[in-house]
Amino acid sequence: MKSGKTAWRSPSNIAVVKYWGKKGYQVPANPSVSMTLTKCCTETSMEYKKKANSASPSFDFLFQGEKNILFEKRTSLFLESAINALPSLKDLHLNIETSNSFPHSAGIASSASSISSLALCLIEINRQVSGNYENEEQFFRKASHLARLGSGSACRSIYGGWVLWGEISGIEHSSDDYAIPLSDSLHRNFINWYDSILVVNSGVKQVTSSQGHTKMESNPYKEIKYETGRKNALASITALKTGDEKLLRKVTEYEAASLHSMFLLSDPPYILIKPESLQIINKIVRFRQDSGLEFSFTLDAGPNIHLLYPESIRDMMISFIKSELILFCEDGMWIDDIMGKGPESIQK
Ligand code: PMV
Repeated sequence: MKSGKTAWRSPSNIAVVKYWGKKGYQVPANPSVSMTLTKCCTETSMEYKKKANSASPSFDFLFQGEKNILFEKRTSLFLESAINALPSLKDLHLNIETSNSFPHSAGIASSASSISSLALCLIEINRQVSGNYENEEQFFRKASHLARLGSGSACRSIYGGWVLWGEISGIEHSSDDYAIPLSDSLHRNFINWYDSILVVNSGVKQVTSSQGHTKMESNPYKEIKYETGRKNALASITALKTGDEKLLRKVTEYEAASLHSMFLLSDPPYILIKPESLQIINKIVRFRQDSGLEFSFTLDAGPNIHLLYPESIRDMMISFIKSELILFCEDGMWIDDIMGKGPESIQK
């Protein structure tokens, strides 16, 4: 085909076992496990036209209907990194329009949803241009592989539910190159989970995740972090299979603490949590002791707190959030998200 279009909606995800540090170009230092979300997502539409072959792809870019230099730059870097995998890109001019469902200023990482939606559009276009229609499984695996080149966490957003990225011996198809869904033998305790995101601070992070990954290279504690990451990835998978919510909580909260410890143990150290993050954590610990409910919390590389819990305790969690936690959120902002089925083609 000489021209055509495609559009995908792709969600963000929240890691319970974190990817933080690399051992090569976009190769994770340890496996990571995440839950794919629904409401925090990016919609990307892409039109393509054949053009004379050039050294790099050419494109026009709009974010929420407007020019955005920062996101355009990130898209350009991603397209450059995608060329080896998709050489046909050099023959195309792309019109890319993208928008986020969540406020750009909510302090929620958008790279997982935006890069995964771009990767899905590119793989779809490659399929149209080449006429090579692979099966669904191959299509999504290629998209996950491609997304990883732009943002590691984005490769997990290609699948719904609980997702593993990183090779673990004994886990079939697990790979450092792409993510795989953990839907087989998932215990029913982990089917309908929520992520209530308490937005403590919506400002731009002082250390980006790519700077953070680079800082890990000189972190003297990195090997311990990677080793515990490997053990925790395996433990989280065991928990997901056996229905052990306590084990998943232990792993999730340890991983959040060890991620933020790495920031403190960098040279120079940096701190991404805010006083309100700690106030919320203290409230959570107290509420868990008093109520006896089983749920987890985690943080990404920022100050916001993610509360992860099953549907069975939804009402109690919502009233706890509203009565005790919202007062610590910036302008009372929180995002009520839920585990999702993964990306959707939205071509009209
Ligand atoms: O995908 P990146 O390079 O933005 O790194 C993601 C890092 C964390 O969000 C902190 C952890 C994770 O595994 O999602």
